[in-house]
Amino acid sequence: MTKKAFITGITGQDGSYLVELLLGKGYEVWGLIRRSSSFNTGRIDHIYIDPHEQPRLRLVHGDMTDGSNLAALIGEIKPDEVYNLAAQSHVRVSFDQPIYSVNVGALGTLRLLEAIRSSGLPIRFYQASSSEMYGKVVETPQTEKTPFYPRSPYACAKVYSFWQTVNHREAYGVFACNGILFNHESPRRGETFVTRKITRAASRIKCGLQEKLFLGNLDARRDWGFSGDYVEAMWLMLQQDQPDDYVIATGECHSVREFLDEVFGYLNLDWQRYVEIDARYFRPSEVDLLHGDASKARRLLNWQPRVGFRELARMMVDADMKIAERECAMRDHDAKDGAAR
Ligand code: NAP
Ligand code: GDD
Repeated sequence: MTKKAFITGITGQDGSYLVELLLGKGYEVWGLIRRSSSFNTGRIDHIYIDPHEQPRLRLVHGDMTDGSNLAALIGEIKPDEVYNLAAQSHVRVSFDQPIYSVNVGALGTLRLLEAIRSSGLPIRFYQASSSEMYGKVVETPQTEKTPFYPRSPYACAKVYSFWQTVNHREAYGVFACNGILFNHESPRRGETFVTRKITRAASRIKCGLQEKLFLGNLDARRDWGFSGDYVEAMWLMLQQDQPDDYVIATGECHSVREFLDEVFGYLNLDWQRYVEIDARYFRPSEVDLLHGDASKARRLLNWQPRVGFRELARMMVDADMKIAERECAMRDHDAKDGAAR
């Protein structure tokens, strides 16, 4: 029988890779999207839906702040698996909008878990937990046993959701798993996260479209992997005999400065000539270092990352160079057009 999955956050970076993975495995996929005044499905528009066939991807409107809508959708769809990826996922923004970030990121998870519990259906649940929960780290590398020390409203919401997920597993027997994912990036990464901000700006600088790049803390260190590899781990967690929690990471750690070296070096540019520090990008409380140990996932899920740091940076630059070159070509075309008139 065809399995059904329901994904919240399907329009985001991870949602777009996860839907590709699940459709490739023959799933019927339902995705939650927010009503917006402009198109917000850019990351999944390339997925072709044949209107003459039984559609295997369906998008439904909803919001993590609306529990009755989530309960109605769970009752209507009756999914086998639910992947909860929706969140206000920007850490810096969560300091400006703490209550909204917690409403979506913490209470949103509870609303969805309660919708699943009250449906009485044997649904398997994946929660997008985060390495940000380790915050001011108490040990390195971080494992499933490392205590949490959250440093932002975003991270506090994720800690709440982590424990609520564990509690639904232990109290009600829901097959509920936490993936504690370390930073993961791709050409589809949102433009305001540091890796994409850098690859996009470097490409635009290379093409003469931009002169400066304004950044915050260059000394922060992260364990950066590839989103395409990480969504596979999400799926694997829900295929096990028992629900559990897993760290997903590369085990390699680099600073923002090293990411700049890699990206600008690949384009034969010296980043020191273009980068300026802007205090607006510092956080009230920073997470200095995240470095994961994914040996449990390697052992029990047989999961391992395929894309390394250099390959990831280059993949993102190659994609952003194509965008910048298109922008350049359009600019030149418009200039010629203007001159001819
Ligand atoms: P993302 O690109 O920012 O996507 C977030 C998704 O959540 C988008 O589809 C967004 O919809 C949706 N969303 C936001 N608020 C919502 C609401 N109120 N109701 C319904 N949907 C809402 O994030 P991502 O990088 O794919 O990450 C996916 C999940 O993993 C997030 O929960 C994130 O916190 C977590 N995580 C990410 C990383 C990472 O490094 N990427 C690491 C650990 C954990 P719109 O498109 O309409 O905005
Ligand atoms: N965004 C951003 N913009 N970050 C900057 C900048 C800048 O201009 N300059 C320096 N940084 C530093 C941040 O201070 C942080 O230490 C680091 O770069 C990474 O920032 P982000 O790319 O915004 O990611 P994050 O680590 O805060 O959060 C991401 O990863 C988490 C997993 O650890 C997000 O995807 C979260 O949703 C996710 O949970």
